[in-house]
Amino acid sequence: MKSLAGSRGRLATLVATVMLSAAACGDKPLTTMDSAGEKAAQINDLALWVFAIAGVIFVLVQGMILYSSKRFRVKPPEDPDQERPGGYSDDEFPEQIHGNDVLEWGWTALPALILAVVAVFTVVVIFEQDDVQASGDPLVVEVVGQQWWWEFQYHLDGNTDTPPDIVTANELVMPVGVDIPLRVQSRDVIHSYWIPRLNGKRDAVPGRSHPWVLQANEPGRFMGQCTEFCGLSHAYMRMFTVALSQADYEAWVAEQLVDAEQLSEGDVGYEGQQLFIAQCAECHIIEGVTDRDGDPSNGVDSTDLYVGTAGVDERYTDSLTAGAAPNLTHFMSRETYAGSFFDLYDEDGNVNRAQLEAWVLNAPAEKPNRPDNLQGMRAFLNLTPDQLEQIVDYLETLQ
Ligand code: CUA
Repeated sequence: MKSLAGSRGRLATLVATVMLSAAACGDKPLTTMDSAGEKAAQINDLALWVFAIAGVIFVLVQGMILYSSKRFRVKPPEDPDQERPGGYSDDEFPEQIHGNDVLEWGWTALPALILAVVAVFTVVVIFEQDDVQASGDPLVVEVVGQQWWWEFQYHLDGNTDTPPDIVTANELVMPVGVDIPLRVQSRDVIHSYWIPRLNGKRDAVPGRSHPWVLQANEPGRFMGQCTEFCGLSHAYMRMFTVALSQADYEAWVAEQLVDAEQLSEGDVGYEGQQLFIAQCAECHIIEGVTDRDGDPSNGVDSTDLYVGTAGVDERYTDSLTAGAAPNLTHFMSRETYAGSFFDLYDEDGNVNRAQLEAWVLNAPAEKPNRPDNLQGMRAFLNLTPDQLEQIVDYLETLQ
């Protein structure tokens, strides 16, 4: 009796755990059950139908197994001295069916038919996933995966053979309601781009450019996660898609097209800018400041690095030098950094400076990476606390 109570307790704990987990799923940003765009809704609808069909079959099959095991189980004889009416002995079997043509054809054809129907609907949805409805806006966004963050290159005229108009990282900003065509690529290993509330997954493969599309029904921030194992910080390779109303999106584009200002002595952030040029410009571009136009001493022209997107290989060889780290021209216009692993702002909307300083000082201690292998940002332990403050002061000017 005691052990029964114990197992009941365990069962109750298990049920409670499962229910709590199920309840918690409602708040998870990576749910596929709460679609916010047409593409994700198509996947969701398909999955629910397949789940329903599979559920009916599961109940039928399990029901028949339970029925058979009860109905035909070996029973003890009612009278031990007698042959058992109502039961079978261990060496006795109920009537066996073999070679029943109708049954055998039936249980072969029916599953084949069910799977064929599921396949037809699945293939239709697969073809719809990267189908782009023309919106009149020629925008194409190149999505570039790199250990362990995402870059987004905006071609406002849709021409990916010319340098992008806007380069940003970790947060893809787009207008609501229309299909945004993407070209998913990688600079190093295979990643996979996935915003579960907006569409399925698309692999980012070095040397290839995979078409994909995002569409959101409503404004909002939609979280994503790299979904192809890509090394040490794969689990921390996140990203957001930010859907804005058409007017907000146009305002965002207008802001992003403006280069950063060259600061002069006496300006707030000037010391930080000089430190940035000396320490950070080897990898990070700030348009107007650390590209060739802005800072001749740096010798890097961001446009050189972006030309020839069709030849991804060319850019791959350029990777992990300048142009292969997040473009910081409008750093403060994003809400996350370091592969969307850290929030730039706290709940009150203030810049989380302590975290940002810790990241600049010693990135490998904040998020696993391999700077010795040119994977991720290295530490700058040479920076004094004053210099760290100055650099973050400067980053704060990058609106
Ligand atoms: Cu990138 Cu996993």
